[in-house]
Amino acid sequence: MKYLTQQKWLLRVFSFALIALTSLMILSCSANKNRKTLYFAHSLPTSHPVHKGILIMQEALLKNSGGKLQIKVFPDGQLGSERETLELLQIGSIAMTKVSASALSNFAPEYQVLVIPYLFRDSEHLFKNLEGDVGQQLLASGTEYLLRGICFYDAGARSFYTKDRPVNSPDDLAGLKLRVQNDQMSVDMANTLGAAATPMAFGELYTALQQNVVDGAENNIPSFVSSNHFEVCKYYIFDEHTMVPDVVVIGTKFWNQLSDEEKGWLDDSAKQSVAKQKQFWKETVVENMKMLKEKGVEFIYPQKAPFIKKSKPIMEKLLMHPDLKPIIDQINAN
Ligand code: GCU
Repeated sequence: MKYLTQQKWLLRVFSFALIALTSLMILSCSANKNRKTLYFAHSLPTSHPVHKGILIMQEALLKNSGGKLQIKVFPDGQLGSERETLELLQIGSIAMTKVSASALSNFAPEYQVLVIPYLFRDSEHLFKNLEGDVGQQLLASGTEYLLRGICFYDAGARSFYTKDRPVNSPDDLAGLKLRVQNDQMSVDMANTLGAAATPMAFGELYTALQQNVVDGAENNIPSFVSSNHFEVCKYYIFDEHTMVPDVVVIGTKFWNQLSDEEKGWLDDSAKQSVAKQKQFWKETVVENMKMLKEKGVEFIYPQKAPFIKKSKPIMEKLLMHPDLKPIIDQINAN
């Protein structure tokens, strides 16, 4: 594992050198205005339905622009964690990324509302909001922080999974060290429910689980499977505490350099990928659940009421925030 980590670092150093070199190339390419390439980094493996959505965007953009505007994808955390790729966008080293709204909430605080436990009634309620005024408002809110949201991708519902402890109620979470994403809302969520939140980057989690640094984590089914965490964790508990979507983001440094026509190509390609990605998501969940059952992972369907009740203080706290309250109220009213 140590060897793999070293390899990953080498790959990263190499990738940064590559970026530096190609930034020069991009500049020279854009100088002759014939072709522009947008570097797009994200942390998920290529088997993941979100990566497949990104490939649809890439394909659609190639077609829309006749090859004049292209995307080059760096998956699997090759260019760093979600926090790091967002920083690369801010300094203009790469153009685009796809991160969880949780990661983005560290930069653009409005996104915190999407991490509130049990805020959305179901995926219909989620998408009604993401694809309506609330979604538009959130995507635009990043611009102030040089991170312009392009679209949302389905990331299902997040649930806990553990190495060897079945969890049927929040009481069973007591004393469990659970990995959460690196943002305050995710930490508050796990702690409020009774666990000991352990924030870390997604790419570090497999080893952390293997080495008993943590007793479990929380994520959606496709991420649980594509990261191979199911090899180490034998219980998946469908408490479905959050429905945190993924967000495609472009750095404003690159966005502002695009012509209106190029912006139009990109927006249209994103739109095409959103519809397809939702389809990939549904298919993947069905396939993954079948595979997990065959591999002997135990599914637990606990009563949700005690989880909902115990996590209520999180929403109550955010409702005190004058900038966030109107967004939460709007979501609740929809
Ligand atoms: C999901 C999400 C990723 C995120 C990961 C995590 O898989 O799609 O963007 O990195 O959760 O838990 O860190």
